[in-house]
Amino acid sequence: MAKKKLFIKTYGCQMNVYDSQRMHDLMSPHGYQTTDNMEDADLVIINTCHIREKASEKMYSELGKIKKINDRQRSDEKKIVLAVAGCVGQAEGEEIFKRAPYVNVVVGPQSYHSLPELIAKIHRNENHLIELDFVEEAKFDKLPEEFSNVKTSSFVSVQEGCDKFCAFCVVPYTRGAEFSRPLEQIYREVLHLVQKGAKEITLLGQNVNAYHGRDSHGNIINLAGLIRFLEKIPTLERIRYVTSHPIDMNYDLINIHGESKKLMPFLHLPIQSGSNKILKAMNRKHTREEYFEIVDKLLSVRPDMALSSDFIVGFPGETDRDFEDTIDVVKKIKFSQCYSFKYSPRPGTPAAVKAQIPEDVKAARLRVLQDEIQKQQFNFNKNCVGKMLPVLFEKDGKFDGQVVGKSPYLQSVHVKGASEKLLGKIIDVRIISALLTSLSGEIVS
Ligand code: 5AD
Ligand code: SF4
Repeated sequence: MAKKKLFIKTYGCQMNVYDSQRMHDLMSPHGYQTTDNMEDADLVIINTCHIREKASEKMYSELGKIKKINDRQRSDEKKIVLAVAGCVGQAEGEEIFKRAPYVNVVVGPQSYHSLPELIAKIHRNENHLIELDFVEEAKFDKLPEEFSNVKTSSFVSVQEGCDKFCAFCVVPYTRGAEFSRPLEQIYREVLHLVQKGAKEITLLGQNVNAYHGRDSHGNIINLAGLIRFLEKIPTLERIRYVTSHPIDMNYDLINIHGESKKLMPFLHLPIQSGSNKILKAMNRKHTREEYFEIVDKLLSVRPDMALSSDFIVGFPGETDRDFEDTIDVVKKIKFSQCYSFKYSPRPGTPAAVKAQIPEDVKAARLRVLQDEIQKQQFNFNKNCVGKMLPVLFEKDGKFDGQVVGKSPYLQSVHVKGASEKLLGKIIDVRIISALLTSLSGEIVS
């Protein structure tokens, strides 16, 4: 079969990266091979993200570029077939065909398993096909069991969607209701990835710690139970999970951080704001004190636990005093890294219709917050200098003879060494210097 070329552009979170890989795995049995050059492609998939800022504007400008390629150099039968996937596809739906009639297919995050069928129909001269169904189980049942291009550190989606309805967030609308994959289905996927060389698995979900999948006897298993089940796979060396909500950090999950040798001592636990007033307005369902309590408990079972978080500044109603409470949380917890964003009103969410904070105030607060976060990140990294850390080596570095891996605390670590000896292995590294976002080290033995 003559190979056709596929170009996928991915925006947004790890979940989208996972989905893009699965879309590739869906199309490859139909003769599609990845290309890095959009101009060469027969099929382009734009996997979109709707979480912040002008997502749809970015998408339309990307679509415009592909239209130009089609207009410029292609005869009709050579035109790029254009598919929009992801959360903007879900949110905009038919509107996309109105604004960009040259788009052929729109699929939502829960219905991209129908891509091969939709693309085949496009080749039979149908157009403007749309699939936005929310039958999550159907998707996972129809995805191929085979993964191509397995990485040392691989991702597995275990939970999707969200029932929390934070006042700023589109996820409950674009990804739909919370859904957990069955335990054995996840186990088979992890086993397959590990057999193909993965050493670390990150369990993914918009609310991954709300995981409540069923085992083969119909019992409901929580995330701690899933981790206990997976860690029995002998050649699986490291387990991580992301992203968690504080209200789902139950005892069982906290305790497993103290028990499991394979679960890494790093947790991304978004708090969003340090002000109880703003947390309430955000509908986060917990206070700053409850967050501190979770962190204390985690540190009591795993004293070297590193923490990361997400913050939003300039949420409607946020005063200077509220913002100071956020800075206070950052100073008290001493995060190892964090993400921070200016609040961006998302159409259809409750906070979007509230009185908004001026852009310049948001920008000024973000600068102050990011300065503090960077200070802490650098301190965290500097404190590692002189220590021995087990590093899982994942890829060659930018420079000749340099290999890069990850510490248990998710820091990038660079060493000089032979990649054929290091890649895919966990090796003790003595840390010799620290930068803001990475460490350098040497292999001692
Ligand atoms: N504006 C700014 N940041 C947002 N996030 C989610 N929605 C918004 C929004 N409307 C951030 C949150 C979340 C992360 C994935 O993106 O901090 O944890
Ligand atoms: Fe969005 Fe809140 Fe759900 Fe996270 S918990 S996906 S921020 S609604």
